Amino acid sequence: VIKLTDLDVSGKRVFIRADLNVPQDEAGNITEDTRIRASLPSIRYCLEKGAAVMVTSHLGRPTEGELNPDDSLMPVAVRLGQMLHQPVRLIADWVDGGFEVKPGEVVLLENCRVNKGEKKNNDELAQKMAKLCDIYVNDAFGTAHRAEATTHGMAKYAPVACAGVLMGAEIDALGKALHAPKRPLVAIVGGSKVSSKLTILKSLADKVDQLIVGGGIANTFLLASGKRIGESLAEPDLVKEAHAIMDMMKERGAEVPLPTDVVVADEVSALARANKISIDDVGAHDRILDVGPKTAVKLAEIVANAGTIVWNGPVGVFELPQFAGGTKMLASAIAHSEAFSIAGGGDTLAAIAKFHIADDVGYISTGGGAFLEFLEGKTLPAIAVLEERAAS
Ligand code: 3PG
Repeated sequence: VIKLTDLDVSGKRVFIRADLNVPQDEAGNITEDTRIRASLPSIRYCLEKGAAVMVTSHLGRPTEGELNPDDSLMPVAVRLGQMLHQPVRLIADWVDGGFEVKPGEVVLLENCRVNKGEKKNNDELAQKMAKLCDIYVNDAFGTAHRAEATTHGMAKYAPVACAGVLMGAEIDALGKALHAPKRPLVAIVGGSKVSSKLTILKSLADKVDQLIVGGGIANTFLLASGKRIGESLAEPDLVKEAHAIMDMMKERGAEVPLPTDVVVADEVSALARANKISIDDVGAHDRILDVGPKTAVKLAEIVANAGTIVWNGPVGVFELPQFAGGTKMLASAIAHSEAFSIAGGGDTLAAIAKFHIADDVGYISTGGGAFLEFLEGKTLPAIAVLEERAAS
């Protein structure tokens, strides 16, 4: 793809599609602003070079054709202005132009998903929006798995289409880990359901040297290996699939390391009493809520010997202290490892924040769904269209 920093943007009208879809509380206060922070390098680059900068993003999943106050990017405009130390005007109706942006100025164009045709990637809308700019920049990695008018259509019609700084960094880091990794490549896939991660598990099982599963996913794998898991969360329908993945890894001489000891309780609650037991002692009413200390040490060893680590999903209910030990040990092993590590997904980011290892992870993706689809090996439409433009 063409990169923003390879272009001369001075005096140009630059349109940046960012992913500023940040979480807010009920009063509309931004509770987590990583994505806004991550959009700054592209915006600053353009401002420093004297471009007239327009930035847009979606926020949530608003009703088309009407702007409800809850869906407004106003809080984002305020936060962005604070970060850039300059005012950021919010433009409500912008698709047809009629607003002015001076060189060195940045405006935020209101929630692009409110525009009719955005979600459906309407051609006419994309063409109209493309006329607003000389250079179109896609910096919205978090939305790269969506073909919408601002993430896909515009890239076809703008005079120049390129990847922003964040988009470039995401493509480089994730690409390096998956397509040119230093071996051994170790993937950790945790979380509650095999069903939501099945494609990722299959695609990774094809690439990695070692596959670690955790959480409810590991429970289904335990079932597949003939263990009793009591009342633990699992998906018996997917035992066959879990078996196939274990066989794939076994054929390559790297058996999926399943828990040999676990932390169980009879309920998932802050008051639950946790017991550390052998996997062979799980009772009929037990629920497995974390890996046990012996297993955690074993997983940490695998991580310590990795050349590259891909991490998505915790191995236990780490939100509760009595079931956090496994994920904490794994997080610490990743932090101390010499390997290049990438991590992504909401729960994983929460674990990274909780265990304060953000500075020790090689690359933390801003993508949720997009990160997962990248791991699945899917072509992300917003990146594909930039590649097509670069090739033509
Ligand atoms: C995300 O939060 O994963 C992205 O901003 C995409 O949002 P969406 O799932 O509403 O398209």
